[in-house]
Amino acid sequence: MRKERMNTMKDTFYITTPIYYPSASLHIGHTYCTVAADTMARYKRLRGYDVYFLTGTDEHGQKIERKAAEKGVTPQQYVDDIVDGIQKLWKRMEITNNDFLRTTQPRHQKVVQKIFRQLYEQGDIYKGKYEGWYCTPCESFWTETQLKDGKCPDCGRPVERTQEDAYFMKLSKYADWLLEYYDQHPDFIQPESRKNEMINNFIKPGLEDLCVSRTSFKWGIPVDFDPDHVVYVWVDALSNYISALGYDTDDDSLYQKYWPADIHLVGKEIVRFHTIIWPIMLHALNLPQPKQIFGHGWLVLNGMKMGKSTGNVVDPDALIDRYGVDAIRYFLLREMPLGADGEFSNKALLTRINADLANDLGNLVSRTAAMVEKYFDGVLPACGELNDTDRAIRDLAGQTVTRYAQLMDGMQFAVALQELWKLVSELNRYIDLNAPWALAKDEAQKERLGTVMYHLAEGIRIVSVLLTPFLCHTPRAIWAQLGMSEGELTDWASVQAFGKLPAGSVLKKGENLFPRIDIEKELSELQALMPPAPAPAKAPEGGPLKPQIEYDDFAKLDLRLAKVTACEKVPKADKLLQLTLDVGTLGTRTVVSGIAKHYTPEEMVGKTVVLVANLKPAKLRGILSEGMILAAVDSEGTLKLVSVDGELADGVSVS
Ligand code: MSP
Repeated sequence: MRKERMNTMKDTFYITTPIYYPSASLHIGHTYCTVAADTMARYKRLRGYDVYFLTGTDEHGQKIERKAAEKGVTPQQYVDDIVDGIQKLWKRMEITNNDFLRTTQPRHQKVVQKIFRQLYEQGDIYKGKYEGWYCTPCESFWTETQLKDGKCPDCGRPVERTQEDAYFMKLSKYADWLLEYYDQHPDFIQPESRKNEMINNFIKPGLEDLCVSRTSFKWGIPVDFDPDHVVYVWVDALSNYISALGYDTDDDSLYQKYWPADIHLVGKEIVRFHTIIWPIMLHALNLPQPKQIFGHGWLVLNGMKMGKSTGNVVDPDALIDRYGVDAIRYFLLREMPLGADGEFSNKALLTRINADLANDLGNLVSRTAAMVEKYFDGVLPACGELNDTDRAIRDLAGQTVTRYAQLMDGMQFAVALQELWKLVSELNRYIDLNAPWALAKDEAQKERLGTVMYHLAEGIRIVSVLLTPFLCHTPRAIWAQLGMSEGELTDWASVQAFGKLPAGSVLKKGENLFPRIDIEKELSELQALMPPAPAPAKAPEGGPLKPQIEYDDFAKLDLRLAKVTACEKVPKADKLLQLTLDVGTLGTRTVVSGIAKHYTPEEMVGKTVVLVANLKPAKLRGILSEGMILAAVDSEGTLKLVSVDGELADGVSVS
């Protein structure tokens, strides 16, 4: 048991998001994870836990180094600016994180260096040579078999063959331990399906040792005992979950109090690192394991993970400006089912705002407050004798609270909201069933009318409390209309029984919680907000750089200077010329070349060209071509022969 748990009444709950790469344009998809973690943190606080909620930024790597250089600033300046923007966004989204860890902070760096050194000293990290296919934008090494059509399997871009001295972490050694750990801790990876994916796709085929240092760039945490190396990606990034708590420092009180984490909430593509590398690191360090890694799905556009060019507004700031933070938070959590992907579109967002928030919830609250004002001068009457419709509402409210708690504990936010909206719908139906406007016409029904009003107000109060993990402003706006404030009427105990809202509370209809949106009009305004579609990228001159080769590969080419002694057109082939070349001691060669549109036979005779002399002969139009001559062609198709800038003998080698 943790120290603190023995001394305090409150149980602790430690939840983390991944630390984000500093990207200048965080899109609405990025915000999902943080909003979801925030919702869980708020829910656990509501349940009385002592919550610690961590988020932050993952700021090292070659990509940052390159981007900073392109901008002419230092990597630190580059990330400072972006991180500032990310922190502002989290403030706007009312994220209640207790800490924000930046991997460039000394407090993190020191811990990473200690962890690295310890793993090295105990033999879990060793020095070797890394050779692999490296995708720079993704900062990932891939094995030959992982490549897709020779390209990065994640982003489809070209990869480079890279070899360098590197440190490695022994993963293979711990594969059996890991499988057993999964087995004994069935809740460790959630949802369940992700566990099978890890076992079958990564662990069973054999864990390769992990490259954990790089020498080809500098923007990282130096390995303190071998400063040519910087710690590479995952050891740096994953350690944030304990460095933020002061692990292995003079003041490790937060670590003692909150570790192990209750939930690391992460996107599905990084479950692998959190359920293989991280547990192995912790095990090797002899530290307790987090209780759960929860892999959520992606917010997708047309079935694809969000990228830069999209047909929808995905800038969270622009969306918050128009619809408010509560609508955006609601949409994100309502639309994404447990662990699966959720589709984003402007239309889906607007439809949800209108249907769920403006109509169902907004109308319920404003109708209720307006009726209490109209029929009872705003003073909430006491509850009279109950009929079946009242009992049904009470039962449903009780069931909703129970079901909600189960679903929230399992992070099934979308289903929890669905359940809550069943109660909202039933409250709306309760109005129709009881027809207060008809009751109001009959003085003898005054008590009945009061009972109906009471059930509505109290039902709304319960809904509003259960909404507090999701929405930041709406619950307060509802409380103002119900004439109550935060405190005993808004805590978890208050929703355990129906009837806490005191009779005599003064209700007051306020502004609409969510104004109804004219969807068509709004869609066209959103369209105008969209950045212009990027012009189709012109193919880079010369095409993308081919993968690196060794000098030995280049040395296999035998290039020679050769003089054109005769030249003629190849009959019935308007692109081809047949050249006779004098290659000095190698003798005479015939070469067929596709240059007829650029040079006449007369122009060619007497020129010195560069011949690939050891190219396997091939027949072209029935003529045996013994090699090829070199030429440069630009993207417009202009062709120029390669030559040397002076006189040299025929047959001289080019290298
Ligand atoms: N830096 C690493 C994490 C290191 S954790 C020790 C990283 N950063 S990230 O910025 O690329 O992603 C951060 C989180 O945002 C991930 O969990 C990722 O899944 C999430 N999302 C990015 N795009 C997303 C969507 N379109 N939808 C939902 N989540 C998305 O990975």
